[in-house]
Amino acid sequence: MQSFDSKLSDGRREGELVTVGRVEDVPEGRGATVELNSGRELALYHVGGHFYAIDNFCPHKGAPLADGRLCGHAVECDWHGWKFDIRNGACLGRPSHTVETYEVVVEDGWIKIRI
Ligand code: FES
Repeated sequence: MQSFDSKLSDGRREGELVTVGRVEDVPEGRGATVELNSGRELALYHVGGHFYAIDNFCPHKGAPLADGRLCGHAVECDWHGWKFDIRNGACLGRPSHTVETYEVVVEDGWIKIRI
């Protein structure tokens, strides 16, 4: 049986690709909330022609990170200003507080996230 939490040798995770929308649904420089069937929420961003996905839950007090302000590859949490690198989930200036990242694949204009 396949594990959903193991990593491949190149650092990517194994898991199911879930189609979440069309590329035109997320304009460049914007974020969007993705609600999975499990009830979990992810934040999806479109920056520099690439898509990035992280957990939509700030580790400080739980604010939705999809609503944060994007500045390059950093998103600033709306509630208290913590900043996260959407490429690797690192909290800028607070290395012990990271958010989970997810691989995003675009196929024929469809955005798919590996979960
Ligand atoms: S809830 Fe995000 S910085 Fe406080």
